[in-house]
Amino acid sequence: MFDIHSHVLPFVDDGSSSLESSLDLIKTEMANGVTDIMLTPHFKRGIYDYGVDELKEKFLAFKEETRKAGLNVNLYLGQEVYCDRYVYDHIKEGKVLTLNGTRYILIEFDYFTETDILDYVYNIVMLGYKPIIAHIERYSYLDWNTIFDLKQMGALIQVNAFSITGDFGRQFQKKVISAIKKGLIDFVASDVHSGRDCVMQKAYKTLLKHAGRTLTDRVFKHNAEQLFKN
Ligand SMILES: [Fe+2]
Repeated sequence: MFDIHSHVLPFVDDGSSSLESSLDLIKTEMANGVTDIMLTPHFKRGIYDYGVDELKEKFLAFKEETRKAGLNVNLYLGQEVYCDRYVYDHIKEGKVLTLNGTRYILIEFDYFTETDILDYVYNIVMLGYKPIIAHIERYSYLDWNTIFDLKQMGALIQVNAFSITGDFGRQFQKKVISAIKKGLIDFVASDVHSGRDCVMQKAYKTLLKHAGRTLTDRVFKHNAEQLFKN
């Protein structure tokens, strides 16, 4: 299984504040059947804005720690980029990381303040990138009919595993599973932080019951596999 959205890298955002808890997160991912993890620390201007070189250094050091701990897992580096009006400059100037050096960029928005997601997607695509919208189910103002339009524009869509298991409420679960069945969702990911359970395996099994193997494997494995290979 592949996980394209996680906050496992220590000391860079609200994901993990110690090496130990980061290694524990990796162990939990592995216990869930995840073999390949994209580490996507937050980029939020003025709050989490480490330089890309510093992040790469921290990533390599962490990778070495996982090797020393005997954890057999494939790790990649990206970022989860919060979109505000400066985001285009940050992308153009190379101040934010794409996923594993590809043209794919994981983006997020304010959960509650109405944001023109279509406009951001349009402009990021125009810059030559492929935006992946993180946890689409969390934007309370988003009309889900626009997911189709977002995809037409070139966006890919991610939902969180705990929205499928029902841990985030039944309403969410129904909505998300129905969107997956309609082919609107490209990826399920953990968005794991220390102190939050990784429920990838539980979500996989839940979706398997509702949507069958082909569709389940597509959103948990095959689409991400393509992305990791660019
Ligand atoms: Fe996240």
